[in-house]
Amino acid sequence: MSWYDRHVLPRLIEWAMHDRRIARYRKPVLAAASGRVLEIGFGTGANLPYYPAQIKQLDIVEPHTGISARAARHIAASDIDVVPHCLGAERLPFGSGSFDTVVSTFTLCSIPAVGAALDEVRRVLKPGGRFVFLEHGLSPEPAIARWQHRLTPLQKRIGGGCHLDRPVRELIETAGLTIEPEKFDQRYAAKLPRLVGWLTSGVAVRN
Ligand SMILES: C[S@@+](CC[C@H](N)C(=O)[O-])C[C@H]1O[C@@H](n2cnc3c(N)ncnc32)[C@H](O)[C@@H]1O
Repeated sequence: MSWYDRHVLPRLIEWAMHDRRIARYRKPVLAAASGRVLEIGFGTGANLPYYPAQIKQLDIVEPHTGISARAARHIAASDIDVVPHCLGAERLPFGSGSFDTVVSTFTLCSIPAVGAALDEVRRVLKPGGRFVFLEHGLSPEPAIARWQHRLTPLQKRIGGGCHLDRPVRELIETAGLTIEPEKFDQRYAAKLPRLVGWLTSGVAVRN
């Protein structure tokens, strides 16, 4: 791991992910979480204040130890009992059908083998279990999308592997998860640059 990824990236992730312009979208999405919950790509724990009160325990997956270290004070400030697993989401150490809910926020952009990770999400969900997501991705505007494709190689270098141009809906559906139309939403985030601001959120069910 480079010096930048070890020392700068965790600070950058904490600063960017706790930004109020993003925080406002978390609570409505996380309201769909229930039962036994797994969060993939936990980062610095920016979701913790926004889980429904009935969530008392959370399994989390996060491969970057430097980022996990910066999550510690957010975990300490939360009432949720966080059970950490230091690994990537491409191979989850849980039995099939272990979780009622899997949460991913601003993480599908960064997972190298994102298709494998979504296959694992589907596997560890119970039948009828819910994948709850809030992600940035490929804009429907061709001019913005062109710049997202151009700038993704740079963004991957400075943003811990983050792609600007992933088609979030297609990725989720390709994994065999069924998006609930009434909870699905796509829009530009207010006050964020369009390159990073096309948000896709909702719930997808494992049938
Ligand atoms: C932009 S951050 C988002 C953090 C958090 N989900 C949030 O909403 O604030 C992306 C996170 O995905 C994590 N990540 C990268 N590769 C991963 C993988 N293979 N499996 C799971 N998480 C991964 C990164 O370490 C980072 O913490």
